[in-house]
Amino acid sequence: MRKPIIAGNWKMNKTLSEAMSFVEEVKNSVPASDKVDAAVCASALFLAPMVEAVKGTDLKIGSQNVSDKDSGAYTGEISPVALKDLNVTYAIIGHSERREYYSETDEFINSKTKKTFEHGLTPILCCGETLEEREGGKFEEVIRTQLTADLAGLTEDQVSNLVIAYEPIWAIGTGKSATEKDAQESCKFVRDVVASLYNENVAEAVRVQYGGSVKPENIKEYMAQPDIDGALVGGASLEPASFLALLEAVK
Ligand code: G3P
Repeated sequence: MRKPIIAGNWKMNKTLSEAMSFVEEVKNSVPASDKVDAAVCASALFLAPMVEAVKGTDLKIGSQNVSDKDSGAYTGEISPVALKDLNVTYAIIGHSERREYYSETDEFINSKTKKTFEHGLTPILCCGETLEEREGGKFEEVIRTQLTADLAGLTEDQVSNLVIAYEPIWAIGTGKSATEKDAQESCKFVRDVVASLYNENVAEAVRVQYGGSVKPENIKEYMAQPDIDGALVGGASLEPASFLALLEAVK
């Protein structure tokens, strides 16, 4: 059985004091980690104090980005070595906002994913199609192309431990979430692609999240689907009550 994983992606929101008061409010109320993995992916500016604050609790902390290099002359980048040293658990890689606004390619995303595993962090690898691609019947081709390139060279063991977030771009921050049937079919397709690139065992092990306007009111419907193992949540992860309600709905 795959353990559900609910991760908040705060994007470029919150100040340090807001981040810390969120953590203080939720850290002792998240469900036990044998039931569900709970994480918040925050700005790199707050990761160190957040990790310190959640020590000994079931709340884990993730980065929203990571470099594909260890260290060196890469101004503005976030070192995976430094993230691991801080005890950060997850790193989001290949979010559609980074693909679109910062021109991240599948090759670069693949390189970051390998580097993240190399340093013992768990990547949350994002994939997803635009509305135009979906309406043009290109969903399968887009997802297969992304995953084939993003996973190239990863071992069976690494992919078994990967989290893939399927996020249809048209559902992100729009309030227009995918129906649970569409989300299930899409997440199943993601799993099928993993099976075709690796094997059934790896496909059964990899956790696939749905992301895109997930909120406490709709999370149960997604979690009832056999191929949806959790959610990557933007807007609804920003408030403590809403984040805890997402976790309560899952456990
Ligand atoms: O990574 C999470 C995300 O892109 C979804 O955002 O605000 O639609 O939950 P939101």
